[in-house]
Amino acid sequence: MSLDPISKMIRTRVEQTNEMEHSSPVFLTSSFSFDSAEEMRAAFADETDDNIYSRFSNPTVQEFTDRMCILEGMESGFATSSGMSAVFASMLTFLKKGDHLISCNAIFGSTHTVITKILPKYGIEFTGDLTVWEDAVRPNTKMIYLETPTNPGLDLIDLQVAGEIAKKHNLIYCVDNCFATPIGQLPVQFGADLVVHSATKWLDGQGRVLGGIVLGSKKLIHEIYLFCRSTGPSLSPFNAWILSRSLETLEVRMERHASNAFYISDKLKNHSSIHWLKYPFLESHPQYAIAKKQMKNGGGLLCFELKGGLASGRKFLDNLKMLSRTANLGDTRSIASHPASTTHAKLTEEERLAVNITPGLIRISCGLEHREDILNDILQAL
Ligand SMILES: Cc1ncc(COP(=O)(O)O)c(C=O)c1O
Repeated sequence: MSLDPISKMIRTRVEQTNEMEHSSPVFLTSSFSFDSAEEMRAAFADETDDNIYSRFSNPTVQEFTDRMCILEGMESGFATSSGMSAVFASMLTFLKKGDHLISCNAIFGSTHTVITKILPKYGIEFTGDLTVWEDAVRPNTKMIYLETPTNPGLDLIDLQVAGEIAKKHNLIYCVDNCFATPIGQLPVQFGADLVVHSATKWLDGQGRVLGGIVLGSKKLIHEIYLFCRSTGPSLSPFNAWILSRSLETLEVRMERHASNAFYISDKLKNHSSIHWLKYPFLESHPQYAIAKKQMKNGGGLLCFELKGGLASGRKFLDNLKMLSRTANLGDTRSIASHPASTTHAKLTEEERLAVNITPGLIRISCGLEHREDILNDILQAL
């Protein structure tokens, strides 16, 4: 019987045990045992697929990985302990001294630190200017790495254009699909070789566990596996069990997060305390045409620039009565953040502006509360 990908994902699970449990068990074990020396030898010689040690593989982690492969339309994957370990593994597996990476300035803060401060220590160069994609390609360029929509400014990058450049120059094309999720956007349709996620966000959806994953072809993921198997950023089976359960509700959750975010954006867009508001599926978004081309919905995040800059941003956060003041996003509970006074406070004003963090920028992650309650809290705080 041929199934729709969501049905197939929901019905994919670790093999049922003799107990006939309906929900998948969690294999909370660090290692696996063997009936004989010969079986153990064969496993270590890669002659069988038997699990050896949970840093290499684990059935519960495999269930989460298999489900993500179905959602992202990828052959294979490797799940990691956080989004950042997935980002780091996707880069360090394929880049070596003398290589060059093209990325963009407007990118998640820790990813920006990896690209601009850590990779250069290993002799890996970067170009971070999006406007010069094709011109940025050098003989030693190996990878294009991007995220869209970007965190926190919700800028969009044309996945097709970047994919065509990657293909033309034979570059590995890696997309962080954290903000859109596979429900909102499928980078594989635009030629992505690798997709990375912070599973900590919408994939979990309830702010409970850290996790990450890299997905791609069998060939590329085998390289990632070999890198991670030795360096050790593997996902805990317990976290994988939580994440795998969460995937079963991802589609319905994302539809509601996105419809709440669209409704609130539309109501707030002309508010007198706001300079501008960005939501990918609002016609006023500067890259609305790109959003419509590559996204199935606008996602659960919106951002706006308050009049009055830094001081207004702090006051807005203080005024909130229901929304949470926390650094995470992608939760059932709506969250507001003010990057200039919190996550990006240590940067100079100039450095912040270089990564599109303006003084009054507020990012809202729309939860699953009633949309009028979210809107009313924002309105009274404004
Ligand atoms: C777009 C994006 N990528 C990667 C990460 C890193 O994920 P984690 O915090 O799970 O390491 C984040 C975290 O906010 C993110 O927003």
